[in-house]
Amino acid sequence: MKDRKNWPNKWIFILAAVGSAAGLGNLWRFPFLAYEHGGGAFLLALIIGYLLIGIPLLTLETGLGQKTQKAAADAYGSIKKGFRYLGWSALSICFLVVTYYMAVLSWGFNYLKESFSLGWGSDTSAFFFDKVLNISKDFSTIGGIENPLLIGFIFGWIAVYFAAWKGVESISKVVVWTATIPFLILFALILRSVTLPGASIGLSAFFIPEWQAMADLQLWLAALSQVFFSLSLAFGIMIAYGSYQPKNSGVVKNVLRITFGNFLVSLMSGIVVFGTLGYMSLEQGSAFKEVVAGGPSLAFVAFPKAINLLPSFSVPVAVLFFVTLLTLAIDSAFSLLEAFSSAIKDRLPTVSTEKIVLALSSIGALVGLLFITEGGIRFLDTLDHFVVNYGLVIIALIESLLVGWTKKGEELKEFIKSKSEVWLGRWWGISIKYLTPLFLITLLVTNAYKEFQAPYEGYPVWGLLTFGVLPLILVPLVSLKLDSLGNS
Ligand code: PHE
Repeated sequence: MKDRKNWPNKWIFILAAVGSAAGLGNLWRFPFLAYEHGGGAFLLALIIGYLLIGIPLLTLETGLGQKTQKAAADAYGSIKKGFRYLGWSALSICFLVVTYYMAVLSWGFNYLKESFSLGWGSDTSAFFFDKVLNISKDFSTIGGIENPLLIGFIFGWIAVYFAAWKGVESISKVVVWTATIPFLILFALILRSVTLPGASIGLSAFFIPEWQAMADLQLWLAALSQVFFSLSLAFGIMIAYGSYQPKNSGVVKNVLRITFGNFLVSLMSGIVVFGTLGYMSLEQGSAFKEVVAGGPSLAFVAFPKAINLLPSFSVPVAVLFFVTLLTLAIDSAFSLLEAFSSAIKDRLPTVSTEKIVLALSSIGALVGLLFITEGGIRFLDTLDHFVVNYGLVIIALIESLLVGWTKKGEELKEFIKSKSEVWLGRWWGISIKYLTPLFLITLLVTNAYKEFQAPYEGYPVWGLLTFGVLPLILVPLVSLKLDSLGNS
């Protein structure tokens, strides 16, 4: 059989993995979580989370890909027969994520265009919700699609398609740019941010730990789930990327490099966002708490507002910020596609990668249209909530039990150990066998409890069921079908 294609060298692999890991989760999810959960206390919890769970699991995933030279479906299948199905489920979730991730990309393109003239004006909230999204009046009104969003969306899908169309070959070329540019720009943005008056208000909120917050279970759950989401774990992505590493390469050192690169992007984003928002609170004479919002509104409402107020360099800062957002998001988006197409290619080796990626992109774009409609942001928010809090958690739980408690899992450990110059020692076993499952079960139970206390974001229950629960029910069903691919 023909040898599997490899990354040109280990640095390209690391860039691709950092590119996937560093995304919107670093730019807007992390700073907000840090702010909500005691600033530096969260940062510390996050670092502990990386050490306890993130690094062992990332080692597992890249090592599994490398050992089997297969993407998620066949890789899991090699541990235990029947578990190929788990891989397909992870990949179906990838597919759901990429459909809505692309909507955010299309907002980003529109904001980049506006950046040159600061076209959002003074009421940045009205601009985002009423002008860009033209948000519908309630959950049950889907509404039409705004042309600029559609154009951004198509543009985004074309870009993502051509990044992924030749698998690692095309990705290798793209990540040299998309995974390095954010570092350079964030560095420039940091210089602007920390030299603003009032920056220290934001930075102290970000860095100084509120020690009592560390006793809060919620802080730990938030930090650990951020570790999962941020390292793109449990989606099958790192298995696919690892599978293109030569079988004999080291594992652990690369994992450490990837984790560090990803952490650095979070840290840099936090400094930029918090320094700037600190300035904004000083300028407006408002309490720091009032200027901060999480999620999309941080990037598309609060940050543009802060940019308006800058004493100088506002246009370059605006342009650079949205270029960062786009470059961070795009390599996360195509990694999702790549993980899926690699697994299909493993099963259907005679079909060209171009065709597989084209089929996935076309279906993904069609489904994704839903998220750029006037009601789209609520559907997006709902699906994201269920995917991150349940889909991902359940997959990760099965994954850690599967590897932690089987003989093949033990062999995987030996394999990684034999290849790596540094080894995690007994830590790996303890983490995969006990800590990770324990944390995931706690997370699952707490999340479910919260779900029943009040509907997420006050959305109607039918809406949550349709756009959140139903897709997750479809995942195992679709996976059943996928599992028969290439079985003759
Ligand atoms: N790691 C990405 C982020 O932090 C999110 C992501 C998860 C992207 C899984 C791809 C796959 O934004």
